[in-house]
Amino acid sequence: MKILMVCLGNICRSPLAEGVFRNKSNYRKLNIIVDSAGTSDFHVGATPDYRSIEVARKNNVDISNLTARKFAVSDFSNFDYIFVMDLNNYNELMKLTENDSQRRKIILLTEFLFPEQKIQVPDPYYGDEKDFETVYKLIEDSCEKIIEKLFL
Ligand code: 4NP
Repeated sequence: MKILMVCLGNICRSPLAEGVFRNKSNYRKLNIIVDSAGTSDFHVGATPDYRSIEVARKNNVDISNLTARKFAVSDFSNFDYIFVMDLNNYNELMKLTENDSQRRKIILLTEFLFPEQKIQVPDPYYGDEKDFETVYKLIEDSCEKIIEKLFL
């Protein structure tokens, strides 16, 4: 199984989701490949925002060696599920789809935690440390629920 985490810059939220999910997956010995990407090319090649690295580190998750890349249409065939952080990401990816099989792969990260409520993982880029902690918690709870609903 292969899953992709997507946000706008691939430096704040989706690297956190990638690291958190990978940790949970490894802990449970699940055979899931996890990657992340951004809908934009703003930060391609960059390591995660230091505030994301820091909140992850505090929770024993190391994301310091990840590098940002832009989402590619080929990701639709390379991944089984594509989890997006917010509705902008959702709409941007939907624009790139060509069939229902691709459309069905795109799921809001919080969907299994808060079904049909369209809860978004807020963009913390212009926020402070507290915002990154809130985002971390929402990402962690969402990933836990995804594993419970789809992979156990
Ligand atoms: P992310 O956060 O989408 O969670 O990686 C952002 C990072 C950078 C920008 C916006 C959001 N930016 O405008 O550069």
